Amino acid sequence: MKFHVFTFGCQMNVCDSDWLCRSLTALGFEQGKEEEADIFLINTCSVREKPEQKVYSLLGRLQSYWNKNKDIFVGVGGCVAQQIGKKFFQRFPHVRLVFGTDGIVMVPQAISRLIREPDLRLSFLDFEDYYPERENHWPEKMPAQAYVNIMQGCDNFCAYCIVPYTRGRQKSRSSKAILDECRTLVSLGVKEITLLGQNVNSYGLDRFGDGVSFAELLCQVAAIDGLKRLRFTTSHPKDIADEVIKAFGDLPCLCPQLHLPLQSGSNRILKLMGRKYTREEYLEIVDSLRKVCPDIALTTDLIVGFPGETEEDFKQTLEMVEQVGFENSFSFKYSDRPGVRAEKMHHKVLEEVKVRRLAILQELQEKLTQKSYSQRVGKVDEVLVEGPSKKQDKGMKFWRGRDSGGRVVNIPGSSDQDLTGELIRVKIVQAKKHSLLGEMLEG
Ligand code: SAH
Ligand code: SF4
Ligand code: F3S
Repeated sequence: MKFHVFTFGCQMNVCDSDWLCRSLTALGFEQGKEEEADIFLINTCSVREKPEQKVYSLLGRLQSYWNKNKDIFVGVGGCVAQQIGKKFFQRFPHVRLVFGTDGIVMVPQAISRLIREPDLRLSFLDFEDYYPERENHWPEKMPAQAYVNIMQGCDNFCAYCIVPYTRGRQKSRSSKAILDECRTLVSLGVKEITLLGQNVNSYGLDRFGDGVSFAELLCQVAAIDGLKRLRFTTSHPKDIADEVIKAFGDLPCLCPQLHLPLQSGSNRILKLMGRKYTREEYLEIVDSLRKVCPDIALTTDLIVGFPGETEEDFKQTLEMVEQVGFENSFSFKYSDRPGVRAEKMHHKVLEEVKVRRLAILQELQEKLTQKSYSQRVGKVDEVLVEGPSKKQDKGMKFWRGRDSGGRVVNIPGSSDQDLTGELIRVKIVQAKKHSLLGEMLEG
């Protein structure tokens, strides 16, 4: 039987979907294209209205397959599933499985049961009171880049955010399990590891912590023999410890890159959001980071049109973005989410105002990205090659990878020699709009 997984949302969902695919393959199922699959799994995101809408239109499309063949079925998992739960069964006849973010561990066995018992429907929506470890079936060789989950959930309850409701309370994974997984991955060919969590800076600070802080965890992972690159995401500015900042200067394999969501440059809005830092404190963190790691590539998340955001507040966000000089940013229009504090706040910002502010912010970001990308020209850096690039120029083939700062680099090269997974030395020769062009150096 063939299965197909659709993934929306963040890297934690990508990581979960990868685990699902490996586990189902180990049970004898075959991964297939959408057109040829019998089992469909959707890993959903509800952080904004748009990704949530996409789930419903996808379910509509899959229902048309079911209309022709009643043997196919769908499992809905992730954040929307956690929120909507069994109501999916009432609305969609082809959905026979719903699973939340902790319930995913039950899915591989559940699929076998659903095949044996055609009238059965199953749901796994409870939050566990601990970090649910999962059995892993690793292939003989892994791609060079891998994600490792270090925690589940979030305790911050930012006023706009649904994540604490869909992913539950913060639960740190044991440092031993994390280190074991990292060591296994490196032995299977992984060169770069990204540690994942909603707020990695508070790793270990919940009641499931085993006494190892995030900074200590970073040192322990960085010490694994054979690991070339280490990254982590996402960080909350209020929790970044001095030791973590220091690690950027001390740990050679910790990449000079940090995603540090700012959300707004106005102290008034930051307070309404419940972010618990000021713009001044954020700037202090940036200063300290640049002292230990002058080349650090800083990226961020920004929300425009949070309830009550005035032109003056928005101007302060623009100023802050310019002052920090972010390499890149993800910016979003505030989107009302059911049950969060901001949903009930007054002075909602008009859609057309949000659209205009987003466009202004993104135009500024383009300028800043161009500025920092052009400063990379002439630099020599290491690029981890992800695979052949879609880019082609006059019949010339390109390889695509990422430099130490996480920027996409295209490198011309012959296709006889497969560079996928190789860490190569590259000289940056040109800055494009969203990527860099590099030349491979010998040795
Ligand atoms: N824990 C992570 C990820 C949160 S979701 C973090 O703190 O960064 C990713 C981003 O989506 C957030 O940083 C925020 O910028 C955006 N976001 C979250 N809720 C939103 C909402 N209701 N409307 C618009 N953007 C939102
Ligand atoms: Fe949402 Fe805040 Fe948690 Fe990030 S830290 S997921 S923004 S509540
Ligand atoms: Fe989305 Fe859930 Fe991640 S809401 S961003 S998939 S934590």
